[in-house]
Amino acid sequence: MKPQTEDRYVPALSFDFLTPFYDLAVKLTTREKVFKERLVGRIEIPPDGRLLDLACGTGTLTIAIKRRFPAATVHGLDGDSKILRIARGKASSTGTEINFTEAFSTALPYPDGYFDSVVSSLFFHHLTPENKRKTLLEVRGVLGGGGTLHVADWGQPSNSAMSLASMPVRWLDGATTRDSCAGKLPGMMEEAGFTSIVETDRFSTVFGTLRLHRSV
Ligand SMILES: C[S@@+](CC[C@H](N)C(=O)[O-])C[C@H]1O[C@@H](n2cnc3c(N)ncnc32)[C@H](O)[C@@H]1O
Repeated sequence: MKPQTEDRYVPALSFDFLTPFYDLAVKLTTREKVFKERLVGRIEIPPDGRLLDLACGTGTLTIAIKRRFPAATVHGLDGDSKILRIARGKASSTGTEINFTEAFSTALPYPDGYFDSVVSSLFFHHLTPENKRKTLLEVRGVLGGGGTLHVADWGQPSNSAMSLASMPVRWLDGATTRDSCAGKLPGMMEEAGFTSIVETDRFSTVFGTLRLHRSV
């Protein structure tokens, strides 16, 4: 696997050639519909607010958010131009107006305080501990006062069956997933200045425990 540095992303399924199969893989293995619907249901922004889907991948969640908040300005950012091409195609074929941007989470190209909410799914486990911290500080910067961060990602397995189930993801996605699976993300959010961090939901999947966190 390519080492992750600041100017390099880990592709959605670890290898570029697997990206076209991403939607199918996620649909079959993560209870995607259920957990993304729950995540969208947790978002509270003004009807005409601004929201960022951080590391939006193929844009499935971004499109669902725009449908839920049709008057909102919805942005999707990802470091991978190939996956953004898929996302743009899906948005245009469904007539959904989304602002997609190619950039890295460690240098977000938005003004301070620009968003009411930042949402991210299946992403933080791609980042080294250092880049998790940098990304959280960037997110804090682009969120306005009282803005919320919602993160859905692999977390500490909720039992030994989930621990066993998470082994392929830990192996495929490498060391960066291990600290997510060790439950370190909420502590990192707190270090970055987020408050009121709560786990809102937890899902058992064939690849381990998905945990949803909300913070302010
Ligand atoms: C597993 S996919 C998740 C996609 C989408 N959020 C979802 O829920 O299906 C992880 C995404 O993170 C992107 N990514 C990885 N590192 C990144 C970085 N440092 N900055 C921006 N995007 C990054 C990858 O290109 C990929 O699209």
